[in-house]
Amino acid sequence: PYLLGALLLGYLLGSIPMGVLLSRAFGLGDLTKVGSGNIGATNVLRTGNKAAAALTLLLDAGKGAAAVLIAGMWGPDAAVLGACGAMIGHCFPVWLRFRGGKGVATILGCTLALSWPAGLVCLAVWLGAAALTRYSSVGGLAAAAASPLALWAFGRLEAVGLFVLLAALVFAKHHENLGRLARGTESKIGAKPRG
Ligand code: G3P
Repeated sequence: PYLLGALLLGYLLGSIPMGVLLSRAFGLGDLTKVGSGNIGATNVLRTGNKAAAALTLLLDAGKGAAAVLIAGMWGPDAAVLGACGAMIGHCFPVWLRFRGGKGVATILGCTLALSWPAGLVCLAVWLGAAALTRYSSVGGLAAAAASPLALWAFGRLEAVGLFVLLAALVFAKHHENLGRLARGTESKIGAKPRG
């Protein structure tokens, strides 16, 4: 039952749509009508408000980390299920009729909380790939792919299997980005919104 509790607690934390709430609080309007329509930090950045975007990134990562740390009090398996719950909550929040985000910030936060060195590696991969390509989505996908590998490398073996699935979820949620990348129409960081 505590494993179910960990999943549920993770879901409740993960489903808080930080980008939507912060955009409203900063008076930036309805985030789902901006740019890609996504509720993540990248899209908040397209409103031009860097502080709101940074805060979205921090809080979307923070809720993932919080889910892992709180659920982790029940043990290492519960911590991993807390991460799962947070990712499902972020990607499919009941409050937004299950139309949620793409999970990059949240998987980074979860990875950091499970193993900070693994999290730092993913953070470096994310920043490196985004800086190199100027595509936020490529950075996020690279970091998501790196996360089960980094967790494995730093000994969090109990997390590896589920993180392979969570990374696959991040890829699935990026199907539109992957299509745009293939067609060469993905918007670069700092470029004008697609509208
Ligand atoms: O984390 C989301 C990012 O990878 C892509 O966001 O708004 O360009 O679809 P967006």
